[in-house]
Amino acid sequence: MAEIRIRNTNERITGEENVREFLNGQGVLYEHWDTSKLPEHLREKFVLSDEEKNEILQAYDAEIRDLAGRRGYQTWDVISLSDATPNLDELLKKFEQVHTHTEDEVRAIVAGKGIFIIKGKPEVGYFDVELEAGDVISVPEGNPHYFTLMENRQIVAVRLFIEPAGWVAHPYEDPEFQKA
Ligand SMILES: [Fe+2]
Repeated sequence: MAEIRIRNTNERITGEENVREFLNGQGVLYEHWDTSKLPEHLREKFVLSDEEKNEILQAYDAEIRDLAGRRGYQTWDVISLSDATPNLDELLKKFEQVHTHTEDEVRAIVAGKGIFIIKGKPEVGYFDVELEAGDVISVPEGNPHYFTLMENRQIVAVRLFIEPAGWVAHPYEDPEFQKA
């Protein structure tokens, strides 16, 4: 289950209900998918063929279509990152810049772990959302954030999009942002 760390106070929020309540209060969608739906041979696999990516999309087809129907997503895919990814360090450096998008950023974690760093309401400031398999999150459009990996440096996630222009990252310069 996801866990929250509020950067200004180091306060941690744990437990599915508490996490959902906190995130909803910040305008961030949080849901959970049943990880047992994923075929066993894909649960710890971070280098994926196109066929395996399709297998993941099939396994979660009902969840994807439900989410897309409710929120207007038109297209989806699977991404994987691990030490086997060429130029992973360079990629992460690029990721680790606060930015915004013109549509919300949805990620459903299929395997591994990741962190979204999100700018919350003024009284909260930046907070980390540590995600693991089954966690589904959506950062609202225009909300400053970035994404990075955790110590194990491996993740597989489903991404959903409304339209290709929404994928573009717009840098967000923020004097209030302090790196961990
Ligand atoms: Fe983003």
